[in-house]
Amino acid sequence: MESGGNTLKWDIFLAPYSQAVDELKIKLKGMRKQFDYESRHSPIEFVTGRVKPITSIVDKAKRREIPIPKIEEEVQDIAGLRVVCPFVDDIYEVVEMIRARQDFEIAEEKDYIEKNKESGYRSYHVIIRYPVETIHGERKILAEIQIRTLAMNFWAINEHSLNYKYSGQIPEDVTTRLRNAAEAAFRLDEEMSKIRQEIREAQEYFRRTKE
Ligand code: GTP
Ligand code: MG
Repeated sequence: MESGGNTLKWDIFLAPYSQAVDELKIKLKGMRKQFDYESRHSPIEFVTGRVKPITSIVDKAKRREIPIPKIEEEVQDIAGLRVVCPFVDDIYEVVEMIRARQDFEIAEEKDYIEKNKESGYRSYHVIIRYPVETIHGERKILAEIQIRTLAMNFWAINEHSLNYKYSGQIPEDVTTRLRNAAEAAFRLDEEMSKIRQEIREAQEYFRRTKE
């Protein structure tokens, strides 16, 4: 598959991924809604999803020397979902709920919270095998669910923009600042966890006064 000339084949290849992203967005957002209906604190702040752009798939395959027929198995984030949580504890609650689901299997879990990546990146990744119903029968595709706090997300989107700006070659001084920022974000999460009960009571109070 070429990224330029063969658009139709890419469309066919990506169709089940796009279907999976749409379905999983609805399912994960549905979890959030259920907490709202039951007036319980939701461990999910928001959910996003995207299909990896063709150019990024091709770049990644080249970088990793992944042959085209292996893309399906080895590029695990063609279908990508992101669940953003208020607090660190919420991440593990979401992971538990994902593990308990019957509509897909877990292929792999990567905990970059306990042990952050060299860049400073923190998140919990769950790779799932998701069955998509196609007109040719069931197809199981891989999808990556990234679960992270608002603070981790803030850091990651900024770092991602810088990586894009510098084509992955972020200058040394900026890299150092990013690592410091990652630690600051982590401390913010820790501090917020400590005053979590207070924050919850405040939210509870606002909810009641709105009724
Ligand atoms: P790539 O990092 O995409 O090559 O994938 P991988 O197969 O090595 O898996 P990994 O778990 O390292 O990363 C998967 C995804 O996590 C990436 O596509 C990013 O969305 C995110 N991620 C991983 N590391 C970083 C990082 O240092 N910064 C940011 N902003 N995101 C990262
Ligand atoms: Mg990586």
